[in-house]
Amino acid sequence: MEPSLLEALRVAARVTILTGAGVSAESGVPTFRDRQIGLWERFDAAELATPQAYARDPALVWGWYEWRRAAVLRAQPNLAHRSIAALASKMPAVTLITQNVDDLHERAGSSGLLHLHGRLMRPYCQQCGQPYALCGDVPEIPEGGQRIDPPRCATCGGRVRPGVVWFGEPLPAEEWRSAVLAAQRCDAFFAIGTSAVVQPAASLIGLARRAGAVTVQINPDATAADGVVDYHLQGKAGVILPALLHAWHEILIS
Ligand code: APR
Repeated sequence: MEPSLLEALRVAARVTILTGAGVSAESGVPTFRDRQIGLWERFDAAELATPQAYARDPALVWGWYEWRRAAVLRAQPNLAHRSIAALASKMPAVTLITQNVDDLHERAGSSGLLHLHGRLMRPYCQQCGQPYALCGDVPEIPEGGQRIDPPRCATCGGRVRPGVVWFGEPLPAEEWRSAVLAAQRCDAFFAIGTSAVVQPAASLIGLARRAGAVTVQINPDATAADGVVDYHLQGKAGVILPALLHAWHEILIS
């Protein structure tokens, strides 16, 4: 770990973390850049995650989200999720922003997350907005996938939709406003497990840098943020984060 980075972290009072699908990859949850399988093989994720796709073929899209929900329910938080939760328990001012729609950060002990792209476990009625209570069982979906007719709202009979933000839809205003403030006010900003291609979430990295934060990327691969960040810790989040926390703890107690 570079001494200059550790020195910057030693004096950091406020830390903001932006996570992407790569943080859940080591839990076995596919990222967006992973190829789709089975029924959805011929689609790019971005083609399914749109209001138009849902209007055109609700059963295909609802089946895809149920397949993803089943994968999340079967998954466990990994060392990356747990390291992030541990950091927040040790430092007072850590803001966690995620692009992920799974609940693995929460199941690892993180709270107060800013979910910029919604939450898989929080579907709601497309007509009246009423939240829809999912049953806790893991949906039994065949390996190759399955079309599933979306449920109907108990209040108005409208069609239920996934609780995620689709391409072309606005981000939740309060979460976005808080995320911008957290990027502008932090001393250290981490972008972990994100390809940094989807806006406006990815713009938070440059915003933090321009506001004077030290910016750190944790990713095994190159990303669209390579030219923006101060440090790129190349590797898996579940490997790098425990080592970083250990080194950080050492200097905090030294
Ligand atoms: N540790 C850290 N990073 C990893 C790991 C890992 N173990 N495995 C993969 N990655 C990295 C990949 O190199 C990639 O850069 O995670 C990133 C995942 O990128 P995407 O699949 O594009 O996911 P994300 O950046 O979260 O996508 C943003 O796009 O499709 C929309 O709304 C969707 O929230 C999603 C958004």
